[in-house]
Amino acid sequence: MSKQRAVWQSGLGFFLASAGSAVGLGNIWRFPYMAGENGGALFILVYLLIIIFITSFALICEIALGKYTKKNCVEASMQIHHRFKWLGFSMIVSTLLIPAFYFVVGGWIIYYLFYSFSLPAGNYGDVFMAMTAKPVLTCTLAIVFLATCSYFNYKGVNEGVEKCNKILMPMLCVIMVILAVFSLSLPGAAEGLAFMFRPDFSKLNGKVFIDALGQSFFTLSTGTGAMLIYGSYMTAEHRIIKNSYSIVAFDTLVAICAGLIIFPAVFTYGVEPQGGPGLVFVTLPEIFRQMPGGSLFSAAFFLLLLFASVTSGISLIENPVAVLHEMCGMSRKKAVLLTSIAIALLSLPCALSFGILSNVKLFGKTFFDLFDFFSSNLLLPLNSMFICLGVSIFFRAKSDFHFKNRTYDRIFWIMTRYIIPVVMVIIITSAFIN
Ligand code: PFF
Repeated sequence: MSKQRAVWQSGLGFFLASAGSAVGLGNIWRFPYMAGENGGALFILVYLLIIIFITSFALICEIALGKYTKKNCVEASMQIHHRFKWLGFSMIVSTLLIPAFYFVVGGWIIYYLFYSFSLPAGNYGDVFMAMTAKPVLTCTLAIVFLATCSYFNYKGVNEGVEKCNKILMPMLCVIMVILAVFSLSLPGAAEGLAFMFRPDFSKLNGKVFIDALGQSFFTLSTGTGAMLIYGSYMTAEHRIIKNSYSIVAFDTLVAICAGLIIFPAVFTYGVEPQGGPGLVFVTLPEIFRQMPGGSLFSAAFFLLLLFASVTSGISLIENPVAVLHEMCGMSRKKAVLLTSIAIALLSLPCALSFGILSNVKLFGKTFFDLFDFFSSNLLLPLNSMFICLGVSIFFRAKSDFHFKNRTYDRIFWIMTRYIIPVVMVIIITSAFIN
């Protein structure tokens, strides 16, 4: 099939789309609650070490595989070695499981966007529980979120998304900085900062490592093939390393900023840091209610967060769409429709996990938690580990895949071939033994 593949139109195009994929609910919703559940500072420290020494290398490998093969995740995996076809399918599974719960949270954002206009005093924990327990509401909102993302996939990513990213991402950052400054002026700021930056090593255990590992892959969209497919639209001039480290730095700053907003508020308003998926939705409305012009800030914040999560959602859908379009010869429209139907069906049990299905548990987890745990903490790290191994063993020999800086080149291959796989096997097995 010799169809013309899309390429990024501008030098900034790749960076904005991949930063758009990376920055989303993972930074603002998932990072604070993962940190809250795992002792705050200790989790942040382990997370930073893993991002620097493992995930950033895995991200580079995935983008490079896309750039050098110019293929979707299944065909690119087969170019590593014909026996690696399963790896492509495993990436597809992850891009069906992640949106199943991600789009449910996207739906909650839509609810809070409208809720912003009436921020009554009250117990926001109850508001959150009441919302998530309504089956029709949560399912409908998840489908609306899915339809919004699919629309952009159908229209093509270049036009709308590349352009919107340029304006909306900086706006999101400005609002986040204002919120962080406000939050740091609250009476619980000192306690919040201590929780974020003073690690208590007695809390170190396998769960901290596996959660930090999963969060690092989830937040950088690595291991799903989302970055691979975006890398495959790169041209020869696009720089892999510079772009990758810029994505890592930007993504990490947004996550830390989210922590600076949430944790001072957590300690000011007496919310439990271990509040789980509802943490952000309980603390943020409190902040907004106390701020001058809070409703307006709240609406602007949730609107921008919605946008940031839509750009991540698009990158998730793009992966199966590219496979159906390029390998099965399906039209883009049909491929988007089929992928959306599959995601919608998988989303329903996740949307109902806080209400009528809250007592249905597998391995002690609701569908929502199970899909999240299985995809983020297991599939993504394992997929990435095999991408690193496959690229460094087989693909390197076949292609002209070298970095200009000789020292970096040597470090990169040692890390991806030996160190990263060993460390990842240790983390994953120790988490299970624990
Ligand atoms: N990185 C996104 C976030 O932090 O919200 C989530 C995500 C997008 C994960 C795309 C995986 C993916 F392929």
